[in-house]
Amino acid sequence: MSTPTDADADPAAGVGGTGATATGPLLETRDLRVHFPLRKRGRRGKSGVVKAVDGVDLRVDPGETLGLVGESGCGKSTLGSAVMGVRPEARGEVRYRSGQGRVLDAAAVSGADLAAYRREVRMVFQDPHASLNPRMTLLDIIGEPLRVLLGVGGSELEDRVTAILRRVGLRPDHLRRYPHAFSGGERQRVSIARALVCEPRLVVADEAVSALDVSVRSQILNLLQDLQDDMGLTYLFISHDLSVVEHLCDRVAVMYLGRVVETGPTADIYADPRHPYTEALISAVPIPDPRMRGSRERIRLRGELPDPADPPAGCPFHTRCAYATDRCANEAPPLREVAPGRLAACHYAEELTLSGVS
Ligand SMILES: Nc1ncnc2c1ncn2[C@@H]1O[C@H](COP(=O)(O)OP(=O)(O)OP(=O)(O)O)[C@@H](O)[C@H]1O
Ligand code: SF4
Ligand SMILES: [Mg+2]
Repeated sequence: MSTPTDADADPAAGVGGTGATATGPLLETRDLRVHFPLRKRGRRGKSGVVKAVDGVDLRVDPGETLGLVGESGCGKSTLGSAVMGVRPEARGEVRYRSGQGRVLDAAAVSGADLAAYRREVRMVFQDPHASLNPRMTLLDIIGEPLRVLLGVGGSELEDRVTAILRRVGLRPDHLRRYPHAFSGGERQRVSIARALVCEPRLVVADEAVSALDVSVRSQILNLLQDLQDDMGLTYLFISHDLSVVEHLCDRVAVMYLGRVVETGPTADIYADPRHPYTEALISAVPIPDPRMRGSRERIRLRGELPDPADPPAGCPFHTRCAYATDRCANEAPPLREVAPGRLAACHYAEELTLSGVS
């Protein structure tokens, strides 16, 4: 019998609660792996590859925001780039249901399907400073995907760029200015306009607000939510910021060392985590109400993140887990259903009493 995975879960059963339709998930990964060859041999000369993503089954339903969280180096961006179809090292499947109802595999699309994929699945990056060409005007930056992917030019191009500029809160007279004339928040609006100008269906946002000041961050988050409502967008929202994810996401997937260790609806995961790693991550979420501070203890994980080229045997988290037993060092726990709509990769997910945030 195969192990139940997030990808196996029946969307019609309402797992995750939002946006699941009879047409099924918008995006699914099946046994997705991205292994990077090491230039030098791994420690103790062992594996020779960094298993940045190592057997991930994930689904994103139409209209939802799925948050992808985990410590630096756990494989979030690598997974995002595999979803974008720009990781030649990717193995396994990335299945996307196109606007025409065709299921496309990110790694194998070509011709008209590739054009549809590039148009319908778009990315917003963390650092708009680095991702916007300083020598291009906003018209060129935002208009480029329209020109390249849809062959739009002339006054139609200008009209469409003007419309999306307005939609993201920038002025039409900004059209011929260069990125350096704008603040960090405005540049992120430009990145969002560039991602949305071709009217995509799925947006992969990789740390899209992480480089912004707190006040600007909430403006951009509100903008992302408004745009999602207006344009019927689905988001894969990659972030190491658990507070932002709690605010924005319908469901959460927690990654550790290239694997998903827990998924479920956001409110359930935060209130009642089933994996000790999730418990540790959310214990570090700041408590806004000063009267409540001190009511919850921050769990400090033992040791460093293990070398992804040489991950621990058994449960990959056992070297840092406060609940580990001998079994954990020897037997890898599969990601399995532990409650309706909840998957966790821990032998003791049902028995442990873990702390969440209320
Ligand atoms: N092109 C590459 N070649 C070799 N190793 C890579 C490459 N890209 C990422 N890695 C390694 O893969 C692992 C996962 O990296 P990734 O950037 O996906 O993590 P992340 O979760 O996005 O981290 P962060 O929160 O810092 O952005 C890391 O060990 C990283 O060093
Ligand atoms: S399987 Fe064991 S080591 Fe892994 S998370 Fe559960 S208790 Fe911790
Ligand atoms: Mg990253």
